[in-house]
Order: sequence, then structure tokens, then C-alpha cells
Amino acid sequence: MASAPHVILRAKHLLCPLCETSNTAALLHPSTDQRSLVCPQNHTFDIAKQGYVNLLPVQQKKSLTPGDNKEMVLARKKFLGLGYYQPLVNALIESCTQHLSTIHHGSNQTASPVILDAGCGEGYYTGELHNALAIQYPDLTTYGFDIAKPAVIEAAKRNKSLNCFVSTIKAIPIAPQSCDLIISVFSPMQPSQFQRLLKPSGNLMVLCAGKNHLHQLKSLLYDNTSDYDEDKFLAQMDSHFTLSKRIAIQQTMAMNSNHDILSLLAMTPHFWRTSPEAKKQLDRIQQLAVDIDVQLLQFTPKHPAAQDANNSGT
Ligand SMILES: C[S@@+](CC[C@H](N)C(=O)[O-])C[C@H]1O[C@@H](n2cnc3c(N)ncnc32)[C@H](O)[C@@H]1O
Ligand SMILES: [Zn+2]
Repeated sequence: MASAPHVILRAKHLLCPLCETSNTAALLHPSTDQRSLVCPQNHTFDIAKQGYVNLLPVQQKKSLTPGDNKEMVLARKKFLGLGYYQPLVNALIESCTQHLSTIHHGSNQTASPVILDAGCGEGYYTGELHNALAIQYPDLTTYGFDIAKPAVIEAAKRNKSLNCFVSTIKAIPIAPQSCDLIISVFSPMQPSQFQRLLKPSGNLMVLCAGKNHLHQLKSLLYDNTSDYDEDKFLAQMDSHFTLSKRIAIQQTMAMNSNHDILSLLAMTPHFWRTSPEAKKQLDRIQQLAVDIDVQLLQFTPKHPAAQDANNSGT
């Protein structure tokens, strides 16, 4: 029996990444055999068997395997599956729901909202958010973009309702002003791109580590644990976005098994920076209370006219 057509075939906002770089915006549409996406110039992008599409042109690849590697992706999947970061998911769902209902009631336009996760990794937050919002918005479209192919494969396998693509967030091949929400969870930022892709009523939700995030774990590994610079982060956003809301998510994870502690370490960048001696020390620890200290920052895009005025100093 033929399987149902893939959700990607219904995606309406995708641009051809090859035509886009030559500045001739061209929408992708399904091929006649429904196995790929095609642009008017006949650039063709196959739907992989796991259900994602690779939209990363070779010339945008800075290495053979950009982004997180398979080991990092699987480590993150394993830890997130333990449920310790559920409070982050809950906060994200709540803020996104609130924002969509504001737009919906204001203009009656957003019954089919469009959400984009920039740097979606293995799709934990993307999938949870999609499932929660789809109850109220069955026509929701959720895009997940990540430069790491192993991550996108996992995201596509996790949830068949997601539209998952390999792409750099420096050039996301989506038509301008398509998105009601962009989320960025512990991922690199591209403020100008995000502003371009958001509808004027759209918002950007960022989850980023606060000063004390995982500090007990870090202090077991390093002598000096301060690597936090919020001012620098906000300055980077300032030309394109206004910070409209901030929620601090602060809880302590009571970790009661060495397996969970090592899973947490393995999914953080600290794993790759940690000396074998420090890792050995963690091997012996069975219990650890570790603080979650995460900021949910909600940003409103600056109107391009206001932005020009700011930039010219008027
Ligand atoms: C710390 S992980 C977060 C993943 C996911 N949001 C989560 O929290 O589970 C950062 C992600 O950003 C991706 N990434 C890094 N540079 C990128 C780029 N230029 N374009 C797209 N994704 C990128 C990595 O491959 C990785 O999956
Ligand atoms: Zn093309």
C-alpha cells in the first residue's frame, strides 16, 4: 500500500537555496512523482527516506560534516529523553501559545501559524512544541533547520509532522515574512535572518543559558566557570530586535544516578573540553544536584524604518 504523502510536500514557504544565492527567489514545489522538491529552474532536492530534505548547497558547507556530530546528537537525545529539561519545554510552549493567541485575537489571521526552529538539533523542543500547539492549531506548519545532518535525521524520525531540513541558519531558504514564531534553543543566532523571516507580528523566542546554568557540573570540571556575557548577547540582537519579555527558569535537578549525570555531561560542550582525569572523577559520582538556570527571552522584530533611523543616529 502506498504511504501517505510526506508533510514536506505541503510546505508552502520554501525557496530554492541555489536560486536564492543568485537573488532570484524561487519557491520549491513537489515533483510530479512526489519524491523531491523542485524549483522552476529544475534544481531538485530529494526527500530522504527518513523524511528530511538537504537544502545546504556545497558552497555553504564550511566542512565535510558541519554542526554537531552523530555522537553529540545521540547524547543530547539520550539526556533530553530523561525529562529533566521538561520545565524548559513547558515555558516555551506557554510563551508561544500566548503569543499566537495575541496575534490570533488581534487580527484573526493566524489559524494556520508557521513556526521555525533555527538550529533544531534532534528536534526535542521542535517536536514537543509542535505537538502541544497542533491541538489548538491543526493547520500549524513547523519547520526545523539545522546544519548537522545527523541531527536533522533524528528530528525527522522523531516526529513525522515536522518539516526538517539541513541548512545553515545564515541563509535559511524560506520566503521573507513567513513565520509567526522563530525559536532558537541553545543555538547560534542570526538576528538579520530571523528578522527577515518573521511576519511583522511575529516574535522570536530564545532559550539561552543563564549565569548559574549547570554550575555544579562545571565546577567539578573546571577551576574557572564564568563564560557568561548577557550584555554581549543583547547587543548582538539590538540592531534587529527589541527584548519584550524575559522569564527566568530556575530549578534544581536532583540527579540520582551516575548514568544520568554522565548523560548530562555528554550532551554539553563541556564533555569535549573536559580532561580524562575530570571525567574519571565524575565516573564515581552517583548523586548530584544540578541547577538549571535558563533565560527565555522574547524578542519583537524592529520595524525596518525604525531600524534605519537608529542606524543613522536620528
Ligand atoms: C547546542 S545545540 C542545540 C540543539 C537544539 N536546539 C537543542 O537544544 O536540543 C546547537 C545546534 O546548532 C546547530 N548549528 C550550529 N551552527 C549552525 C548553523 N550555522 N546553521 C544551522 N545550525 C547550526 C548545531 O548543529 C546544533 O544542532
Ligand atoms: Zn533553483
